[in-house]
Amino acid sequence: MPEEPRAQFELFAACPRGLEAALVDELQTLGAVDCRALGGGVRFRGDRAVAYAANLWSRLASRVLRAIAQRRYRDDDDLYRLSNSVEWERLFDAGRTLRVDVSAQRSPLRSLNFATLRIKDGIVDRLRTVSGERPSIDTRSPDVRVFAHVDARQATLYLDLSGEPLFKRGWRSGAEDKGSAPLKENLAAGLLALARWTPAMPLYDPFCGSGTIAIEAAQRAFDVAPGAARSFGFERLLDHDAVLWSRLRDEAALRARSARRRIAGEAGAVRIAGSDVDRDCIVRARRNLVHAGIPEAAVAWRVLDAGRAPAPFGDPGVVVTNPPYGERLQARSSSAPDGASRHEAAMRAFGAALKKDFAGWRVWVLSSDAELPRQLGMQERRRTPLFNGAIECRLFGFEVYGPR
Ligand SMILES: C[S@@+](CC[C@H](N)C(=O)[O-])C[C@H]1O[C@@H](n2cnc3c(N)ncnc32)[C@H](O)[C@@H]1O
Repeated sequence: MPEEPRAQFELFAACPRGLEAALVDELQTLGAVDCRALGGGVRFRGDRAVAYAANLWSRLASRVLRAIAQRRYRDDDDLYRLSNSVEWERLFDAGRTLRVDVSAQRSPLRSLNFATLRIKDGIVDRLRTVSGERPSIDTRSPDVRVFAHVDARQATLYLDLSGEPLFKRGWRSGAEDKGSAPLKENLAAGLLALARWTPAMPLYDPFCGSGTIAIEAAQRAFDVAPGAARSFGFERLLDHDAVLWSRLRDEAALRARSARRRIAGEAGAVRIAGSDVDRDCIVRARRNLVHAGIPEAAVAWRVLDAGRAPAPFGDPGVVVTNPPYGERLQARSSSAPDGASRHEAAMRAFGAALKKDFAGWRVWVLSSDAELPRQLGMQERRRTPLFNGAIECRLFGFEVYGPR
């Protein structure tokens, strides 16, 4: 699309609830301006380079959208007129497949399904009139996604720039995680941000599962762009600037190479460890790390019960972890002498292990269980509400004091 190269876009980056303020900080470092945290995301402005960089470099966002059109509306016909008025033919080809999603807040509309249909009709009719061809709908893996948000009066249409959600970094193979409950990568990065972990600090995840937290940390330490190994929706749009995009990717590759050289030159500079009681998890975590573009030796993996874990490094650092939680753990163990659940016994053992060997460490635990501090036998210093998908959780922050 012939458009001045420095055109400012109105953008929105979605993220897990609870990470909005951290996402503002991250987007600002990527050049975003006029950032405003809203529930579940951040509104911001930036040129095309900022929009691409947010996709390539944001560790916290789930998706980046570009606002395309906005108007006051009263009914579904207004939504049709709005979507029909956009010059979609400048943005994507009618041969592309399409998906439309609508979200609403205090909207007077009776049916969101019908609203979705009308917006889709507006787009399809427009492209058919202009090009003689109509895009087909594909709800599973569309080439182009349009999001609409309707509130009490305003309707806004967004074009998705990300495609697959950004937490899909491209290093996890789909089949391998069946049966376990891996954290989304951007939530793992969010825990590290809320814990104020920096690559200079030792990090340990004693319930590491597939290794998500340790791998996110290692990608940060090695300055690997989270989107380095994947493609994005904006690459399929007609206004895509391939020269700019290849420059941004080349810069990212250069940064990763120079970080690797720098770390290889400073013995022991990155101190990240992960352990899990399940051997298969460790096999998987090790493989995932290498797929994520990190040298195998960068993370120290061990098969270990968290209730018996020694501190993995001589210096104190930060524990960031999400032990098992949810319905799967409600089953009570009849063998526990005091009738406490097996889960409670495991948490008590974990708390004891921390007090025994982790003096000086800061400990951050994500859990949906409000009773966690009592189970660990520790008093939390911080408690931050966060959503793991639909599950309401808290990130509990503790400090482990040395023997007195
Ligand atoms: C919720 S999952 C962690 C998922 C992980 N954050 C990821 O992204 O893959 C909890 C993990 O704790 C492990 N686990 C359960 N009990 C444990 C124990 N006593 N010691 C160490 N690991 C344990 C399970 O094998 C599981 O992998």
